[in-house]
Amino acid sequence: QELQLSLEQIEKGGYDHFMLKEIHEQPKAITDTYRGRLLANEGIIRMAGIDDHMNKFLNAERIIIVACGTSWHAGLVGEYLIEEFARIPVEVEYASEFRYRNPIVTSKDIVIAISQSGETADTLAAIKLAKSKGAFVFGVCNVVGSSIARETDAGAYTHAGPEIGVASTKAFTTQITVLTLLALKLASKKGQLSKPELRSYLQQMQLIPNKVEELLKIDTKVKKIAAVYKDAPNCLYLGRGFNFPVALEGALKLKEISYIHAEGYPAAEMKHGPIALIDENMPIFVIATNKGHYEKVVSNIQEIKSRAGKIIAIVTEGDTQVKEIADHVIEIPETEEAFTPLLTTIPLQLLSYHIAVMLGKNVDQPRNLAKSVTVE
Ligand code: G6P
Repeated sequence: QELQLSLEQIEKGGYDHFMLKEIHEQPKAITDTYRGRLLANEGIIRMAGIDDHMNKFLNAERIIIVACGTSWHAGLVGEYLIEEFARIPVEVEYASEFRYRNPIVTSKDIVIAISQSGETADTLAAIKLAKSKGAFVFGVCNVVGSSIARETDAGAYTHAGPEIGVASTKAFTTQITVLTLLALKLASKKGQLSKPELRSYLQQMQLIPNKVEELLKIDTKVKKIAAVYKDAPNCLYLGRGFNFPVALEGALKLKEISYIHAEGYPAAEMKHGPIALIDENMPIFVIATNKGHYEKVVSNIQEIKSRAGKIIAIVTEGDTQVKEIADHVIEIPETEEAFTPLLTTIPLQLLSYHIAVMLGKNVDQPRNLAKSVTVE
């Protein structure tokens, strides 16, 4: 029998879809993103785009993050990281809103534009507007030499490698990696973190790729969960703190490729609306990491249980409390709470992937969506 491999099959490197390949590339992509930047032993973060403009960063009164889609979710994680560590006020805006609402921006602001493709029309327009008002604009892009990379005053590439699947995966985790480094770097420069503290964070950070690798091994378990919920018409995703944006991203991944209606919410907001939707037909994905307002999230889980909702919980390994209540539990390895988005995201990506495959959807090219949106 003749062996025929199309160029596409070769490019997929043995995976059925680019999305699955890109999910599995994340340990390497995250490592590539911090390589040469994260020097744990020295307790140093080297990022030329920040070092060359350190005074701007140290004197910034505010950071405004602009982005669209998944990159906007990474921006939200960035807000939590930068405010927690560097103590600089951060606002996160959809580029499409920012550009048309006559925003107040001055030369004391730093704008961080996040974009995988570096070509998103709204993000590019937001950058031009911010520059016209005197702000310093820092880009976080994946595509080298892209329009946004060229338009920004400085930046840091994500080094995720080409992302082909329309649903963003490794671009998201590498954006978060860059934002984590940026937050820790500014924190140490501002004296918010001592050298030993920074070193300890960096050592923890270096363990992340292996932990992602470990998580990718639970694929069969995730697939089983996917099989149970693939026909649900609606899903809810809840998370708090650093994992609130992960809940939004989990919901986006599901709706993008499986066309199942999904909503992400901060867990505590559940009582202000989504709780009305909960019945025995509603699967609810809850991120309940052990240091992330755990007890409060557990009480949300109990509320879901008492309304017969189906609970799929992402917990830290060794968890006992949630295990007793949830219908399914996915464990992530222990790490700093601030770094958990890099882990909690992984099972949610896999879950969406498997559901979409089981439903026979076009995973890599979902209907109506484009990888790069160069028009308004
Ligand atoms: C499109 C893609 C999304 C992406 C968004 C922003 O909608 O389908 O995956 O998150 O654009 O793209 P960017 O390239 O600016 O990150």
